[in-house]
Amino acid sequence: MAKMAASIVETGEDAFRKIFKLYKRRNPPPDFSDVIDFSKCVTTDKIVPVKLDPAAVSDGDAAKVGLRPVKDWKAFNLQGYPGFIFITNPFLRGSQLFWVRQCLKIYPQKPNVCNLDMHMSPIDTQDIWDKSVPNLSPSVGKREPRTLLERLRWVTLGYHYNWTSKTYSANHCTPFPTELHLLSYQIATACGFPGFIAQAGILNYYKSDSSLGIHVDESELDHSRPLLSFSFGQSAIFLLGGTHRQDTPTAMYMHSGDLMVMSGQSRLFYHAVPRIVPTHRKVEALETDRCGWHSGWQGGAVVEQVSEEDWAVCARYIHSSRINMTVRQVLGEGQSFPETPPLPGHPEVRQEDDEDRMKRRRKSDSFNIKNT
Ligand code: OGA
Ligand code: MN
Repeated sequence: MAKMAASIVETGEDAFRKIFKLYKRRNPPPDFSDVIDFSKCVTTDKIVPVKLDPAAVSDGDAAKVGLRPVKDWKAFNLQGYPGFIFITNPFLRGSQLFWVRQCLKIYPQKPNVCNLDMHMSPIDTQDIWDKSVPNLSPSVGKREPRTLLERLRWVTLGYHYNWTSKTYSANHCTPFPTELHLLSYQIATACGFPGFIAQAGILNYYKSDSSLGIHVDESELDHSRPLLSFSFGQSAIFLLGGTHRQDTPTAMYMHSGDLMVMSGQSRLFYHAVPRIVPTHRKVEALETDRCGWHSGWQGGAVVEQVSEEDWAVCARYIHSSRINMTVRQVLGEGQSFPETPPLPGHPEVRQEDDEDRMKRRRKSDSFNIKNT
């Protein structure tokens, strides 16, 4: 063990970092043939289909949050990653864009916190959507971002993650969006975690050249609760490692609508997003899903019909961008914040042209991954 640690120090490179750099590389581009694609439904000895309990969530409760009946979900475990569950797009046709609209139009609003608040006044970061929509370029992300929406990098919900202290705190908390709690609650229940309480959310907004550094999500005080991750828009490569940086990570695609549940041992495994992978076919199919609005979304539904104007903006945004929502329960039942919080870490999405980039350079190498 001591020998291995010494060799990392000497070379400045561990197994995870090596694979991260490989998949991030532009020139020449890497070989993607080892990247697992759960949507292709091939089962190897590493990919293990898992049957979730279809009775845990009623079809009606699933439909209310925009999800298909649990019996129709395709869920997988990965050999060697206990507690990790990958669910390929379980959303009903037309419902993904509702969640995309929440991420672009609703969740950046006050009292939630976003990256623009770090250097702009609350008045200037009000109505990000309304201020941006008239000036959005035809292809978002293809040139220097002009609008606030194009400069949006992250939003925090509930207990607001503090990127400097790497902690949550009792005194920086705003109400967690009810509909996102309900979505998360149903998914957690279906995965065997009844009673999940969504208390914190980190939304990441990726452009085609963004990446997310190697990290473990350990700032939450109770790690027995799962971490839920939602992907929308462009695809990405996700790397899942182990408890040590020396553990070689497994690469997998995350496509629009895919869910990941990190629980058990995997809850504290290293992971990263080295690369966004353009996938126009899947996203175009999504854009035309409006006709798929479900008649089943009647009384009590939290997923509402998105107006044609909003739909057009969201469709345009995800044509070149990716949105990731992670939902976390911070505290266990009856738990409260200690006097002195621990010191773990979560990196920000890095942007080549992000004006904040230089200001927020991180000390740890996992935060110092640059775009090419
Ligand atoms: C995170 C995270 C992964 C992703 O926000 O903690 O790991 O897919 N996100 O963007
Ligand atoms: Mn994470």
